[in-house]
Amino acid sequence: MLTKRLAACAALVTEGGVVCDVGTDHAYLPAELLRQNRCPRAVVTDIHAGPLEAARRTLTETGVLARAELLLCDGLEQVLPEGITDVVVAGMGGETIVHILENCPWRAQVHLILQPMTKLPVLRQWLAKNGFDWTEQVVSEGGKFYVVLDVRSAAAPQPLTLLEQEVGRIDWQEPCASAYASWKLKRFQKLAQQLKQAGVPEYSLWESLVEETAAKLGRNPR
Ligand SMILES: C[S@@+](CC[C@H](N)C(=O)[O-])C[C@H]1O[C@@H](n2cnc3c(N)ncnc32)[C@H](O)[C@@H]1O
Repeated sequence: MLTKRLAACAALVTEGGVVCDVGTDHAYLPAELLRQNRCPRAVVTDIHAGPLEAARRTLTETGVLARAELLLCDGLEQVLPEGITDVVVAGMGGETIVHILENCPWRAQVHLILQPMTKLPVLRQWLAKNGFDWTEQVVSEGGKFYVVLDVRSAAAPQPLTLLEQEVGRIDWQEPCASAYASWKLKRFQKLAQQLKQAGVPEYSLWESLVEETAAKLGRNPR
């Protein structure tokens, strides 16, 4: 059984499609998709040999190794795009995800499912600048929030607002996303206060973010 974080990523993969899981580690996500016959085939990559061996073990134990291709490489470097419908990049920093996408010439041809652990604003800025559109969902597990981005090449990309850059393109009515936004609001309030006390002029930017986030949540910003 997948963790809530990986289950949220898996649920977005195209039914009957071919998934490529980048930085697969134990290959839990592709193994489950193959086991359920949600995908007929999967490609898995990892930059390190140890995790790729762990992936081989999981796929063998699940009885789906014959339907998987394992590649030791940086990101999607050695992956042939033919047939691939969905690329999942989960459990890595936002900057690493940007690096992986930057080096993939066919990134706009597939459905991207991205689950960054850090530097989310960096990833969102890059996606907006490079012609992608997306929605985000939030799951909570073990007292932590995880954000999953459902990304496609955009017909007409939308400009990224500061609120979207810092909180995300979330459904503000959804309870977990709303709890995440409340948590972000507290962080913005603290940061604005610290910057103001230190005399850093950018504090006003964070104050406006506090106002906007609070307004979206229907709260008092103070
Ligand atoms: C924390 S694990 C995440 C595993 C799984 N994707 C998940 O979300 O549970 C990160 C994995 O990404 C791999 N990794 C890091 N940078 C990578 C890159 N540039 N290309 C491919 N794999 C990478 C690491 O070796 C590690 O196995």
